[in-house]
Amino acid sequence: MSQENNVPVLTIDGPGGAGKGTVCQLVAKKLGWHLLDSGALYRLTALAAEKHGVALDNEESVAVLAKHLDVQFLPQDEGLMQTILEGEDVSLDIRTEHIAGHASRVAALPAVREALLSRQRDFAQEPGLVADGRDMGTVVFTHAPCKIYLTASAEERAKRRLLQLKEKGLEGDVKQILSEIIQRDERDMSREVAPLRPAKDALVVESTNMSIEQVLDVVMTELGR
Ligand code: DC
Repeated sequence: MSQENNVPVLTIDGPGGAGKGTVCQLVAKKLGWHLLDSGALYRLTALAAEKHGVALDNEESVAVLAKHLDVQFLPQDEGLMQTILEGEDVSLDIRTEHIAGHASRVAALPAVREALLSRQRDFAQEPGLVADGRDMGTVVFTHAPCKIYLTASAEERAKRRLLQLKEKGLEGDVKQILSEIIQRDERDMSREVAPLRPAKDALVVESTNMSIEQVLDVVMTELGR
């Protein structure tokens, strides 16, 4: 199914740690819409490459892995998603900073982005889709009627990322997370294909001093709900 199928789509793009994941889960739950965590697809591609011993700069082979990812997303309580890759639960494995870094590298490969395009568009199903990513509004769902670009300062995002890791029982060091966030922003924003930037018709929400509830209010108002 393509983006022309008239299914309502809300896109939320922005840098890592801005709170997109949480906001998208809450909005999807409120509206009863489907949820696309496109970052998970890049993380899964990076993990699959590692598992199969494929070098991250081997664009053709990584794209083949991306195209044929054997993945299942199983919704759990409270908006959480269990992620199964090749029959194995990798929900935690794909959330490490190590895999995040590798995901950012495979995401810079044009053939990989192309390989994941139709898989992402297939998520647009009735009654609607909340799409979380970096290029949802600029590339994947350009006709989406409602686009948000959610951002926050790098320092604030590092703090939020550390909190998220702790909640998942994972360790982290705020200084290291901050330097990884800055590196990842740089890579995501400067790549040639689908660089991270707000769509021309996106509402930019700077959330450094906002609570999740305040962001949620802005999104729901923009949606006209
Ligand atoms: O949102 P995330 O941290 O799970 O994303 C992991 C990486 O995937 C991130 O560095 C950028 C990349 N990504 C992308 O290039 N395009 C998307 N639509 C989503 C994520």
